[in-house]
Amino acid sequence: MEYRIGLLRGDGIGPEIVDSAVRVLEKIGEKYGHRFVFAPYLIGGAALDATGEPLPPETVAGCLASDSVLLGAVGGPKWDDLPGDRRPEKALLGIRSAMQLYTNLRPARLYPALRGECPLRPDIVQDGFDLLIVRELTGGIYFGDRGYRTGKYGEEAYDTECYSRTEIARIAHAAFRAAERRRGRVTSIDKANVLETSRLWRRTVHEIAGEYPEVTCTDMLVDNAAMQLVRNPSQFDVIVTSNMFGDILSDEASQITGSIGMLPSASLGDGTRGLYEPIHGSAPDIAGQNLANPIATVLSAAMMLRYSFSLTAEADAIEAAVDAVLSAGFRTADLLHGRPGALGTVEMTDRILAAL
Ligand code: IPM
Ligand code: MG
Repeated sequence: MEYRIGLLRGDGIGPEIVDSAVRVLEKIGEKYGHRFVFAPYLIGGAALDATGEPLPPETVAGCLASDSVLLGAVGGPKWDDLPGDRRPEKALLGIRSAMQLYTNLRPARLYPALRGECPLRPDIVQDGFDLLIVRELTGGIYFGDRGYRTGKYGEEAYDTECYSRTEIARIAHAAFRAAERRRGRVTSIDKANVLETSRLWRRTVHEIAGEYPEVTCTDMLVDNAAMQLVRNPSQFDVIVTSNMFGDILSDEASQITGSIGMLPSASLGDGTRGLYEPIHGSAPDIAGQNLANPIATVLSAAMMLRYSFSLTAEADAIEAAVDAVLSAGFRTADLLHGRPGALGTVEMTDRILAAL
């Protein structure tokens, strides 16, 4: 089979980690007899510098013409002072929205080999944890009405959170379907003691829950969830939550796996075309120095094989290779917390390729 993969390398460490994932995909292609055709497009600061726009129309068209898309990261200090609608981050929100990818899957699990890198006390993580954050990705406050106006105290800025029943229902379905294939538990996270959008969220999630009798559904307030994630992460199976809460909680979940450099993500809509990216950012401070952990992006490529192309054995092989490399004790700098012996981005990728 031939697959056309759009590549959005982006900024900072984006190019390095995407290139690692490309090497892994090429090896998988050789081994299993697939042809991956890579089509690069500009996004973020790189696109701003080259074209004056963070998300050029050719990029959107190219992604929509691809079977799936792999993205590195966007943003950096060079573009931090641009107005909100011209920032690199706007391109990321824009491409997710243009591809109608409302479901963002962010799995976080503790690899037994990384137990020592987890910042939580050993007794807290003795049973490990394996959770999936299902983040709503194209609605809520990141897409709501925003701006400046004059208020009681003079100049003020505002952002608004808005969720329709339709948007909540479709992300709830995605979460319940995922839970059916996992351990059958959904925790819906909101702030229903304060926010009206959260009250609609809670009501809608419970209506949908009725269609999944095999899945148990409980609610948790977001402040409590932030605490529970570090108090007892193994209580969670599937977490479903809004765009902003999912953004915040997924960074927290990543850190308890040992490093934010470990977490992949899949963004999906109604079809099979997806956008796959690590949950971390462009890390401009370590860009271009062969220091970045490529694992989150390599695992994102595995998710692409699994969810967009239904290449289960191939996805399993990548995940097993990452497992083997970590079990053998290989680490990038982010996983060593200052201890010596780190592999660079390229060397870690070489190890993963060797394990394949
Ligand atoms: C993420 C990032 C993005 C987001 C930013 C860069 C716009 O934090 O993918 O989690 O908020 O979604
Ligand atoms: Mg984030």
